[in-house]
Amino acid sequence: MVHLRTGRFITLEGIDGAGKSTHVPWLAGEISARGHAVIATREPGGTPLGETLREIVLREPMSHEAETLLMFAARREHLDRVIRPALARGDWVLCDRFTDATFAYQGGGHGVPEQRIRELEQWIHGDCQPDLTILFDVPTEVSRTRLDLAQAKGRALDKFETEADAFFTRVRAAYRARAGREPARFRLVDSTRPLADVRVALAAHLAALAAAAD
Ligand code: TYD
Repeated sequence: MVHLRTGRFITLEGIDGAGKSTHVPWLAGEISARGHAVIATREPGGTPLGETLREIVLREPMSHEAETLLMFAARREHLDRVIRPALARGDWVLCDRFTDATFAYQGGGHGVPEQRIRELEQWIHGDCQPDLTILFDVPTEVSRTRLDLAQAKGRALDKFETEADAFFTRVRAAYRARAGREPARFRLVDSTRPLADVRVALAAHLAALAAAAD
């Protein structure tokens, strides 16, 4: 039987300070060591326009609705110019945040109605969903401690990172609720664990996806 090799779409999610970005280069290395071409990208961002929108949306005050629409504007560019072409070539795509972040941050965090976000999701990428979403889960207190540490080391926090703890608690709850509703797509990783332990879990999730893909 002939197997067609197709690209796989992996997204990484979690509240700020969950540590997901630390794992991106390592995960990309693991995927490439398995023999797959891989691109690592992020949202908002991933294209020149997307990166410009990122600067705006992470810094400028705006309504929650405008924020939601800008996330999807950046996302559509990203899908058209980067994600879909890569998947069509058979590459694997590793994306630091995607639409689950909009449901969690704009929906759970800011109260934008879930139905509105679902409508945008259907319009912008109803036909293109992640194959695997890794949710880096940490309690709000852990994320706050990590963000405080980053700030103490001189990193300027963005608009979302300076939100109150209650905001992050809502965002985390929204992520966990989504993961609970879609267990086939989500893998929850306890990101309070030491880096090496997290990597063992990540490697297992990649191996399972690769086995399903081949
Ligand atoms: P983040 O991914 O944490 O980048 P870094 O690791 O460089 O800090 O920053 C992106 C921020 O954008 C994060 O606070 C979550 C927010 N965001 C949303 O609110 N909605 C979205 O749809 C996306 C993609 C991100």
